[in-house]
Amino acid sequence: MIIPQEKLDEIVQASDIVDVISSYAQVKRRGKAFLALCPFHPDKNPSLNISQQKQVYHCFACGASGNVFTFVMEYDKITFVEAAAKLAFRAGIELNIRSTTPDVSNEISRLYEINKSAAKFFFEKLQNVSGYEKDFLTEYIKNRDIKKDTMRKFGIGYAEKEWDSLLNHFKEENIFTEEDIEKAGLIIKNEKGKYYDRFRGRLMFPIFSENDKVVGFGGRKLYEDETGGKYLNSPETRIYSKSRILYGLNFSRESIRALDYVLLVEGYMDLISLHQAGFHNVVASSGTALTVEQVQLIARYTKNIVMNYDADLAGIKATKRGIELVLEAGLELTVVTLPEGEDPDSFIKNKGKEEFEVFLNNRKSIIEFISELYIKENKLNSVQERTDYIKEIIGYISRIPDSIKRAFFIKDIATKYGLYESDLRDELEKAIKTFKKEYYPKSSIVLPEKKTFKKQDKKKIDRAEIDLLDILVNGDNKAIEYLENNLDVQFIQDETVLKITTELLDEYMNEGKIDVSKIINKLEDTQAKTLLGSVSTAKYEVSKSEKFANNNTLLSKTERKLTNYLKVAKDVIKNFQISLRQRKIDELLKGGSDPTEIIRLKREINDLQKN
Ligand code: UTP
Ligand code: MN
Repeated sequence: MIIPQEKLDEIVQASDIVDVISSYAQVKRRGKAFLALCPFHPDKNPSLNISQQKQVYHCFACGASGNVFTFVMEYDKITFVEAAAKLAFRAGIELNIRSTTPDVSNEISRLYEINKSAAKFFFEKLQNVSGYEKDFLTEYIKNRDIKKDTMRKFGIGYAEKEWDSLLNHFKEENIFTEEDIEKAGLIIKNEKGKYYDRFRGRLMFPIFSENDKVVGFGGRKLYEDETGGKYLNSPETRIYSKSRILYGLNFSRESIRALDYVLLVEGYMDLISLHQAGFHNVVASSGTALTVEQVQLIARYTKNIVMNYDADLAGIKATKRGIELVLEAGLELTVVTLPEGEDPDSFIKNKGKEEFEVFLNNRKSIIEFISELYIKENKLNSVQERTDYIKEIIGYISRIPDSIKRAFFIKDIATKYGLYESDLRDELEKAIKTFKKEYYPKSSIVLPEKKTFKKQDKKKIDRAEIDLLDILVNGDNKAIEYLENNLDVQFIQDETVLKITTELLDEYMNEGKIDVSKIINKLEDTQAKTLLGSVSTAKYEVSKSEKFANNNTLLSKTERKLTNYLKVAKDVIKNFQISLRQRKIDELLKGGSDPTEIIRLKREINDLQKN
């Protein structure tokens, strides 16, 4: 599928980057810039900078950079064409894409197609089983109280007990290679090099991405003689990352927005039962401990989380860790506690949805939740026990980013337990210090070595070279023309800067202006994308970087606003000329010096510095 250029232009026109990112993340305006929590790494403070003027984004923490297409591609893990189609749909632009054959053009789309085909296969199997399996499954589904509509909505299917049922299906289909099916996590190779099905004898729950694509499966054990755990999940693949998926979000997102809270549960079946009972604003973390990424995912729809994990020891532990994460993200949290031994699924089945609603309406604050745990274990008697309790609570409070909110919590506890607020505040300070140690310091310009979203190695780039990019991206024509006429490739030491400069100047010469969003898409090198993104977004951050602070040509934020770019351009060229001569002197000194040449160069430096 190729989208004609006019259509692409139309899509670009209709897809303002701030608008688009706003539908994925909460975007705040700060002056001319827009800021959001970066969805590409666990972000505690908004580090994703968006420039509306230039239509690009850049994350100062993880380095992710690009334009509106890259954002959608990276976020939804889809191809360029799919992203364009999605943006077109959003803007009401007609594209006439009709694809009847699966898109096998690249590995990512093959993985989606394979999962889709498997989901259909499992679903149809469940509809069409016969013999003893049919009786068994009918009974099982009846016992679990799963309705026909529910099965259809969630695509619930059946993986047969055979070792090669799905494999044979794919062999018949004859579209995908065994290697790709293995990469999708659906078949496994044995020691003899033969493939077999990963999921056997299981009730299959397709796991959907936020935009309704099957990315993996959870399989519930059905037969006692089947090996493996109660649930078996797809392994991590290029399209399925456990920590970044919330089961059911594709079904719940609208309801979550409408009701402005989400009910967070543990299991596939909890979510499905709740949906069936009419509670649609639910997501499941499905077995993994809640992650920062998942919390961030939720934060895009609501700030209010209601946790309803199992009332067993593991569930309590998971709830506590969840509380920390949710508070750190600055969200609001309450907890539903069901009677011991129940989970939402079993509770609704045993007691009904009205009774569930009573518990839901009786949800507890964190303080109540924790104190009830202490009371239940009869652990609030001695001074020591009560001290432990207060300290645990303060530990949670220390994670709340908003100091006013912390103050309210402290006041509450002081009143409730007859303590001095000042004592509590001292303890809170201590807890905050301990907690802050976990924070990684915010960096300024970060260049990733590889495209990973973890901690990255920083690379130092000469201040003048950054200024050069700054002028090209933010400066006026006079300044850019001055650079064009006076710049010499020898001046630029950093390869990445050189690459970007060449592209930008090329664009300027051809078009008479520089469209950063176009260039950022064109640059293939991640480092280059990142650097260009960083220069194009928040200048303030750039000018704050330590390198800049050590330099006496440092410009403050307000100074920069009034920047005379032509003057900066002249300074930059002068600095380049000086550095170039200095490098020549260093070389001469190393390789048996030529005193007259050195003196000449030194004199030139002196002259340059005087002007
Ligand atoms: P539970 O053990 O609470 O199961 O695990 P459940 O949801 O009540 O399951 P049923 O009702 O017996 O069918 C909660 C979730 O943890 C994950 C699954 O996502 C499950 O829904 N899990 C559990 C696994 O991934 N593997 C396991 O072996 C068990
Ligand atoms: Mn259950």
